[in-house]
Amino acid sequence: NFLGIDVGTGGTRAVLVDQHGRVVKEAASEHAPFRSPKPGWAEQEPEDWWRAAQAAIREVLATSGVAASGIKAIGLTGQMHGAVMLDAEGRVLRPSLIWCDQRTDAQCDWLHERIGRERLIELTCNPALPNFTLTKLLWVRDHEPEIFARIAHVLCPKDYVRFRLTGTYAMDVQEASGTLLLDVTHRRWSSEVARIAGIDEAWLPQLFESPEICAHISREAAEKTSLVTGTPIVAGAGDQGAGAVGMGILQPGSVSATIGTSGVVFAATAAPTKDPLGRLHTFCHAVPERWHVMGVTQAAGLSLRWLRDIVAPGSNYDALTSEAAQIPAGSEGLIWAPYLLGERTPHLDSQATAAFYGITASHTRGHLVRSVLEGVAYSLKDTFTLFAELGIPVKGVRLGGGGARGQLWRSIQAGVYGYISDVLVAEEGAAFGAALLAGVGAGAWLDTDAACAAAIRVAEQIPPDPAATLSYADGYKLFRRLYPALRSVRE
Ligand code: XUL
Repeated sequence: NFLGIDVGTGGTRAVLVDQHGRVVKEAASEHAPFRSPKPGWAEQEPEDWWRAAQAAIREVLATSGVAASGIKAIGLTGQMHGAVMLDAEGRVLRPSLIWCDQRTDAQCDWLHERIGRERLIELTCNPALPNFTLTKLLWVRDHEPEIFARIAHVLCPKDYVRFRLTGTYAMDVQEASGTLLLDVTHRRWSSEVARIAGIDEAWLPQLFESPEICAHISREAAEKTSLVTGTPIVAGAGDQGAGAVGMGILQPGSVSATIGTSGVVFAATAAPTKDPLGRLHTFCHAVPERWHVMGVTQAAGLSLRWLRDIVAPGSNYDALTSEAAQIPAGSEGLIWAPYLLGERTPHLDSQATAAFYGITASHTRGHLVRSVLEGVAYSLKDTFTLFAELGIPVKGVRLGGGGARGQLWRSIQAGVYGYISDVLVAEEGAAFGAALLAGVGAGAWLDTDAACAAAIRVAEQIPPDPAATLSYADGYKLFRRLYPALRSVRE
């Protein structure tokens, strides 16, 4: 068996997978909600991830009937980009600024002035965005110099859990791509960016490819988790990289659209494919010698949760979406611009704000819900539009995350994107992908392609509905005009 552990934003999941790639058992433990001491800030305690990881591992072992000695390897994944700062003894120096923290615009500007935006894209394949780890370190440099002075190690969230499990500082190249400190083309730390940004390269962990074994469970961690001392851990990948493995998005032309808290359209590529304007992220894939591009909508599932909590607190999503299913495609002119947490692709605007456009007295709660589902899909379609512009092939789309679970959001996505959209038999997400990477590291499969071929099956293919597709095409045209209009009001 192989164990995948996903240190997410809301909680940590542990998924046990057998040698055929089937899920045996899973368990989860929630995190405390992230703290937002000021608008746009988002912080979590690394210790809380470690607590949740121990709980999820213990539970999955206790309930699965699988002996810990039967676990041949472990794979880690998790929320990307968060900055975990440790002192020389490995003690956490402050809460982690996590992926959705938006406070670092000034540090992004500083980096662009210092290095040059084009040069930064040349070196790291990406421009500076508040999501990326380096900008968070620079914020600490500017605002908490006494903490900055004590930094000896920098990790991302799942790599901190690895450190607690093994005592090893390590990171995979897919995760490292989201730090803005990686030379993504050559899959190694960028000495040039580190030097210019004033980051000591000695703080950065050793790099590995995702399926490589990089550490082993320590005796101390074995006592706390019920795992066996010496169990190997592979490098793993950030949630997007491992999630893509879990959905079989490995070959150029295969694309996924995943709606979790954020929403991501992800394409595997044979070489690093840069957007000269930096609107897409260009990262190393969790597969050696492959890369990926992705576009991110900051508030995807979050848009629906936000609306639910306001208009129908406590109600379940199925009840809400069945109201929305009664409303015609296009929501009778109501459009949602989903910028609750600023936006990444394609606007790269941390200050963007959300809006409903076109409300009339005849609109109901069902219209609000449907327009949110549609607006999130329009926003993800912006990434498909960029793919077309940059010549990135799309041979088919696989849907993942919460957005793939309900019939309505699935069919809205197929119609908005205009592709036949596959739903998988077991869409187990990033933890599942991490377990497959562990299986590859342990030698159960020759490589990641073989693991996915063995483990992943399509359950259903959803064709775009022709009539709805026409309404969505009109809706998307209006949607495209909303952001510039909203921006001009703000300015
Ligand atoms: C990816 C990203 C999110 C986080 C949160 O760039 O920011 O997917 O990893 O899950």
